[in-house]
Amino acid sequence: MVNNIAIEKAKTSKIHEVDFDNLSFGSVYTDHMLVCDYKNGEWEAPKIVPYQPITLDPSAKIFHYGQSIFEGMKAYKDDDGKVFLFRPLENFKRLNKSAERLAIPQLPESFFMDGLHALIQLESDWIPTNAGSSLYIRPFIFASGTGFHASPANEYKFIIACAPSGSYFSGKVKVLIEETYSRAANGGVGYAKAGGNYAGQFYPTKLAADKGYQQVIWTDDNAHEYIEEAGAMNVFVRINDTLMTAPTNDRILDGITRKSILDIAKDEGIKTEVRKISVHELVEAAKNGSLKEMFGAGTAAVVSPISGFGYHGEEYELPELKDSYASMLKKRITDIQYNRAEDKFGWRYPV
Ligand code: COI
Repeated sequence: MVNNIAIEKAKTSKIHEVDFDNLSFGSVYTDHMLVCDYKNGEWEAPKIVPYQPITLDPSAKIFHYGQSIFEGMKAYKDDDGKVFLFRPLENFKRLNKSAERLAIPQLPESFFMDGLHALIQLESDWIPTNAGSSLYIRPFIFASGTGFHASPANEYKFIIACAPSGSYFSGKVKVLIEETYSRAANGGVGYAKAGGNYAGQFYPTKLAADKGYQQVIWTDDNAHEYIEEAGAMNVFVRINDTLMTAPTNDRILDGITRKSILDIAKDEGIKTEVRKISVHELVEAAKNGSLKEMFGAGTAAVVSPISGFGYHGEEYELPELKDSYASMLKKRITDIQYNRAEDKFGWRYPV
């Protein structure tokens, strides 16, 4: 166990420069970060240091072969100032699953959990309390070891940085169902939170943004026949009163918000189906009125209603529902996260 994490405190704090009433997503950073180096075949003790730039050799493998993975988490503060994380062990497990796929050495659980705990305790003044805001936490690992040989690095850095953040999307979320490009393939790295999975989306997402869409809904890499996930979130579809989402596989991220939403929906007595959803089914449901709502779910996105989708040159608008599943599920999950409701699933983690 790493119970005592070495802390080097920042000489001055930047907190007074931050406008907590107008936070964007992930663009200002707290005073400290956790750093842990992998050298000589082992992870060295993590330490907390002032947030600062890092120096890397130009031949560091991250620059050449993209060996990097990350996680997304949030810290929440309740009305009494108590601080909570949401299912942090799930993030730790997924980080190591991603690490395995990218040939990055496994990180010990105590380094992640104790380091995270110590960092969030130290930065607790940075956790915003305005509605919809939280402290976004970004744990990541990348290859700092050098060499142009296309093989795994022998040195890595694990860092946790934090950013007080408002909502991920600033307005309505309209999505484009992708017909040309693919995000992931069978046997690939789609299920991992690899940096390159996101870089590969930027170009098709830019093309979609030029047409007025905020996100792309990725389809299978074979015939673009089934919907998979969106760029920054898993996707849920409600047809009549059934809530459905695609099953996780090699190509789809096993979202922690996704599985929590499924559990809450079942607890609410909503009929849920985890199954392949074809674009054809979605379009038919939109045409005959049985498609009631769609929303994205993710740590950054929380639960983000989708206002409509584009496919094959056609626009499909979704009605604004008064009693949507999205608003009910968002309330239930955020009530657990912000300690406003009983945590019957045991998901809250006090810091
Ligand atoms: C998150 O939801 O935390 C993510 O990692 C998605 C990212 C694209 C913001």
